[in-house]
Amino acid sequence: MKKNYIAANWKMNLTRSKAVELAKDIREAVKDGKNKYMIAPSFTLIQDVAEVLKGSNILLGAQNMCAEEQGAFTGEVSPLQLLDLGVQVVILGHSERRHIFKETNELINSKVKMALAHKIEVILCVGELLEEREAGKAVAVCEEQIRKGLDGVSEKDMENITIAYEPVWAIGTGKTASPEDADEIHAEIRRVLKDMYGEEIAKNTYIQYGGSMKPTNAEALLAKENIDGGLIGGAGLKAETFAPICKF
Ligand code: PGA
Repeated sequence: MKKNYIAANWKMNLTRSKAVELAKDIREAVKDGKNKYMIAPSFTLIQDVAEVLKGSNILLGAQNMCAEEQGAFTGEVSPLQLLDLGVQVVILGHSERRHIFKETNELINSKVKMALAHKIEVILCVGELLEEREAGKAVAVCEEQIRKGLDGVSEKDMENITIAYEPVWAIGTGKTASPEDADEIHAEIRRVLKDMYGEEIAKNTYIQYGGSMKPTNAEALLAKENIDGGLIGGAGLKAETFAPICKF
């Protein structure tokens, strides 16, 4: 059976001492866990958190990355700089990047390919806005984000791709998609992956759910056939709320 892949996206929270404390608490709480784990701190916290996670069963992630290796890109962080800190995973296409910072599918696709070229694993986030869901467009939006986001990604590189389905209306709002609704979209995502890459790759690709996942709803979500993990914001900021999700 596939493990679950449980990832914490700390977003723009914490300073170094608090981040180290939290990383230590999580490391301790999940040290015997059998699932796949990841923590993505802000860029400024990565070096300190890397020290804590060294030798643990938790991967080190980043929340974004530039699509270029180096040069005149003020304020950006390159894949080479992330690798230099020991980063193994990058979250790309998060809805906050898409909607607040206006990242397009095309830009996200170049970031995806750049990360893969450097053997950095990718969590590619997709998900619909509330008005898109109400207009019956949830599947179409996710399908377009996947097809464009993975354009030019080879079958071989798919082993380094995870998809996170994060309905935008559920992120940080306390509202969660019901396990049935989430599973339905996850099944559609798997259908798209099957169409693009065949049955085997579609089956093996992790599809995480994100959007107010917490200890009280995680078990029911993770029990669903097509939900292989979680990308967790708010509940990832405390070991007491993150660790229980890690055990399912
Ligand atoms: P949330 O965030 O768990 O706070 O809803 C999830 C995410 O945006 O990755």
